[in-house]
Amino acid sequence: MDTQETRDDVLDRLTHAGGRGVLRFLTCGSVDDGKSTLIGRLLYDSKLLFEDQIHVLEKDSRKHGTAGDEMDFALLLDGLEAEREQGITIDVAYRFFSTEKRKFVVADTPGHEQYTRNMATGASTADVAVMMIDARKGVLVQTLRHTYIARMMGIRHIVLAVNKMDLVEHSRGRFHEIVAEYLKSAESLGFETITPIPMSARFGDNVTKRSEAMEWHDGPTLLEHLEDLDIDSDVETQPFRMPVQWVNRPNLNFRGYSGTVVSGMIRPGDPIVVATSGVAANIERIVTVDGDLDVAKAGDAVTLVLNHEIDISRGDVISAADARPEVTDQFAAEVLWMVEEDLLPGRSYLLKIGTASTPATVTALKHRVDVNTYEKQPSRTLEMNGIGFCNLSTARPIAFDPYHEVRDMGSFILVDRFTNQTVGAGMIEFGLRRASNIHTHAMDVAKADRAKIKGQKPAVLWFTGLSGAGKSTVANIVERKLAAAGHHTYSLDGDNVRHGLNRDLGFTDEDRVENIRRIGEVGKLFVEAGLLVTCSFISPFRSERRMVRELVDEGEFIEVFVDTPLEVCMQRDPKGLYKKAQAGEIKNFTGFDSPYEAPENPEIRIDTTSISAEEAADQVIAHLQQQGLLG
Ligand code: ADX
Repeated sequence: MDTQETRDDVLDRLTHAGGRGVLRFLTCGSVDDGKSTLIGRLLYDSKLLFEDQIHVLEKDSRKHGTAGDEMDFALLLDGLEAEREQGITIDVAYRFFSTEKRKFVVADTPGHEQYTRNMATGASTADVAVMMIDARKGVLVQTLRHTYIARMMGIRHIVLAVNKMDLVEHSRGRFHEIVAEYLKSAESLGFETITPIPMSARFGDNVTKRSEAMEWHDGPTLLEHLEDLDIDSDVETQPFRMPVQWVNRPNLNFRGYSGTVVSGMIRPGDPIVVATSGVAANIERIVTVDGDLDVAKAGDAVTLVLNHEIDISRGDVISAADARPEVTDQFAAEVLWMVEEDLLPGRSYLLKIGTASTPATVTALKHRVDVNTYEKQPSRTLEMNGIGFCNLSTARPIAFDPYHEVRDMGSFILVDRFTNQTVGAGMIEFGLRRASNIHTHAMDVAKADRAKIKGQKPAVLWFTGLSGAGKSTVANIVERKLAAAGHHTYSLDGDNVRHGLNRDLGFTDEDRVENIRRIGEVGKLFVEAGLLVTCSFISPFRSERRMVRELVDEGEFIEVFVDTPLEVCMQRDPKGLYKKAQAGEIKNFTGFDSPYEAPENPEIRIDTTSISAEEAADQVIAHLQQQGLLG
């Protein structure tokens, strides 16, 4: 091997490698399957390592290695790993190497179970997934999960890398056994190619050089296969799409729309439309830092100038006029859940697709997928690493293409609205109905008219707190006082509503979310009617209280935190429920084995340990007067 090649030589080779285009792949597998060794081997054999790095590696291998006299390539990546940990956290590292025939980008993702999210990230841009299997262990749950995610992420080619063949005496029988087992499950997923290769990454067998010990293998080596694999690019056939990142308006004479083309191509003169509004124009110029282009293709970052001004903002998708994306606020998608807290249908998450974002909820979880058998199972929630098929509904219509048609237009992430953490990734399969099917009917009598007749401003008075905190008691006095003063009221109460509208709901997290969602919608209707509505519900989760707040107009949601400590509620125990919970007779009891997230900034906080219920009610009424709600 020629280790004298300089960095410049290598870079030159990387940027000018002829032959086929770039191939992007990722390696998947469990922690010890040999992923790092394999990547290290590919980088080493393709001369991307420099002499000094190789010296270090040789020394380290002698000191710590597990590969005998051979160099331990895993050490190389571990070193890089350490480097990475010192910097900002990057979940996926991309490495580059090239041969005479092709350039390669390999996504290196940590292999631990909890890093499924990294695997998904790496897979979302890859053409090929290399599934690493330890020949001694065979096909694991992790293998099947990663295979499923790879398929879900639109990968069409699999390499089944049966590694560590040296540890099973290069047994042809063992190899075929593993391949057969893998195909039993994976064949049903519809990959274009599944290519099994027996290898020993540590010694380079069938990675870059043919294995002498496994002459029975008549297929290609990994590198040969990756060099020759045909991954036709869809740029020519796919529809043009560019999600707008920002409107570029440096002065009054220039207005352009900047973003990255995610699919297809466009030329000056071509007609376009804004996906959601349908407004049309033609491309006048394609501007880049290096001057104007004659054509912009998928992957290019450009600024588009149109022949006349139209209304476009961040999040809009500029699309081919004759092949528009769908626009919808309801769609079905496959969702991969990535955090420890379960997915809760009914909860409002932030959905980000392209450059757009909008609040969204999972309205129905149709089924979850057992990653062992790929069977569909009924489920009400998704746990970490769980994959499910869901219906989602967005607050605003989004433009999309089904994921398997245009990857970048059909993939989205879900973000927790409090922690800003990415909690799920999804692939849109199809739209459920067009947003334009259902219109809001404009009524002649509006909320303000109804409220005016009643001489008040409508609002939801939302009492939250533990069971036994005194929510219903205080709410009841508030309503009595309001009614006595001639106001128009209504009251919604946990125990009562659970006898009717919500009789089908229990006390699991999912059911509590749905409970509050329904109450929120009902509360909103009463506000539309011009009423002052008291709502008394434990409503233990911040997310759902915020969801109700957002359902009504600014100032119409008044959160009243009935802040009674758990010990006091337990002492009072008006319904004897705490006693039962303590005896283990009631499950999921708030404060015991079900959480309560106290409000951080309630409009009103009531300390029932220092004031009476009567005084508490006066405190609420005083607030309403102050806010000018009582006319
Ligand atoms: S919420 O959590 O979904 O908002 P909600 O306010 O509707 O609860 O209902 C709470 C009432 O149901 C309590 O006041 C109590 O009387 C009764 N209850 C029965 N089981 C439970 C339970 N496991 N946790 C809390 N409340 C329960």
